[in-house]
Amino acid sequence: MMKGRSRRDRRIRRAGIVSVGKYMPPTVLTNRDLEEIVDTSDDWIVERTGIRERRVARSGERQSDLALKASREALARAGWDAEDLDMIIVATVTPDYIVPSSANTLAGKLGAIGAASSDTLAACSGFLYAMHQGVTAVESGRADRVLVVGSELMTTITNWGDRSTCVLFGDGAGAILLAPVPEPLGVVDMLLGSDGRYEEVLRMRAGGSAFPASHETVDKGWHYLEMEGPEVFKLAVRSMLQVSSTLLERNRIKPSRLGCFIGHQANLRIIEAVTKRLGLKPTQVYNNIERYGNTTSATIPTCMYGAEMEGKIKKGDWVLLVSFGAGLTWAGILLRWAVGRLPRLEEKAGLPSDTAVDTYPDRLKPGRDRQER
Ligand SMILES: CC(C)(COP(=O)(O)OP(=O)(O)OC[C@H]1O[C@@H](n2cnc3c(N)ncnc32)[C@H](O)[C@@H]1OP(=O)(O)O)[C@@H](O)C(=O)NCCC(=O)NCCS
Repeated sequence: MMKGRSRRDRRIRRAGIVSVGKYMPPTVLTNRDLEEIVDTSDDWIVERTGIRERRVARSGERQSDLALKASREALARAGWDAEDLDMIIVATVTPDYIVPSSANTLAGKLGAIGAASSDTLAACSGFLYAMHQGVTAVESGRADRVLVVGSELMTTITNWGDRSTCVLFGDGAGAILLAPVPEPLGVVDMLLGSDGRYEEVLRMRAGGSAFPASHETVDKGWHYLEMEGPEVFKLAVRSMLQVSSTLLERNRIKPSRLGCFIGHQANLRIIEAVTKRLGLKPTQVYNNIERYGNTTSATIPTCMYGAEMEGKIKKGDWVLLVSFGAGLTWAGILLRWAVGRLPRLEEKAGLPSDTAVDTYPDRLKPGRDRQER
C-alpha cells in the first residue's frame, strides 16, 4: 500500500536496488534455426547485430508468467514477502491484456494484495521509465518497497515472415526491488526524454483505438512490429550517447570511473558505437544480447542480474543504465550499486526449474509457411 504521509514527513532520501531476479524461457532459437524460417544466415545476424540466439516462450505461457518467476526470485533473494510490497510497476509492450494491466495480474499472482500496481508503456525505454517512477516514490517517502519488472513476449508481436525484424527479438523478464538505502549508495541521477516526431520509425499499428483488431488489420500484418532499421540505428546511437554524456558530465563522473555500463540490448554495434565514443573499455560494459537478443523492456534488468551474479558489479560501484526505444524515447539512470553479492537461490523451492521443449510454438510457423510458398 502506498503511504499517505503528510508533507512535513516526506523528505528526499536515497533509493537503491536491493535485489534482482530473472526468468528466461528455456527454449532456445538459434540463428541456424532462423535460417529454416526466413531467408537469413547465422553470419549475417552475428555480424550485423551480435545476436547468436534468443529465447522463445512456449505456447500458452503468458508474459505475466515470466514476470512472476523473475519477481519471485527477486523477492526470495531479498527475503521479502509479496505482501510487503507498496507498489508494483511492469514495463512491457506485450501485456497479457490491454485491460487490466499486467502489473494488476502480476500482483494477483504474487498475492500482493493492496499494493499499487500499473504498467508503463515506453517501449525499450520502458524499464528505465518504470524504475524512474519507483525511485521517485521511494525518494519521496510515498513507498518503501517497490517491485519494478521488465517483461516481454516479443515473439508474439514479431512478424516471422520479415527477416529484417524477426531475427532481432526474444522473450524474457527481469525484476528489481527498490528500497531506501544509505548515502552515498543508490540512485544519484535520472534523465528521461522523448521525441514524438519519430513515431513512424518503430511501431505496431493495430490493436489500439486507432486501428482496433479486425480482419483487415490482421490481413495487413498491423499486429506486428514494423521498423525502419537503419533510421532507428542512427537515432539510437545519438540519443544514448547524449544521455550518457549528460549524466556523467553533470555529476562530474569521468567515464573511466564507471564500474559498469549497461545499454539497451538492441544491436551490439549500437552499444559498441556508444561505448567507444565514451571511451569505455570492454571490461566496463555488460551485454547479454548474444544469448538473448533484444528482449525490449527486459534487457536492462536482465543485464543487471547477469552483472551482479557474475561478480561484475560490486557494492559502491558506479553503474550507468541507458536505453532508447520506440517513440522515440530515451532514458538514463546513474547509480551506485547498493548491495554486496546477493545469495544464490537456485536450489530454493519455488524458483524456476523448467526444461527446454524442442518444438517451437505455432506462432513461429506462419513465417515458415510464407517462405515455402
Ligand atoms: C535492423 C538492422 C540489424 C539492419 O542492419 P543494417 O546493417 O542496417 O541492414 P539494412 O537494413 O541496411 O539491410 C542491408 C541488407 O541486408 C538485408 N537484410 C535485412 N535483414 C536481413 C537478415 N535478417 N538476413 C539477411 N539479410 C538481411 C536487407 O534486405 C538489405 O539487403 P539489400 O542491400 O539487398 O537491400 C539494423 O538497422 C539495426 O539494428 N537497427 C536498429 C534496430 C533497433 O535498434 N531496434 C530496436 C529499437 S528498441
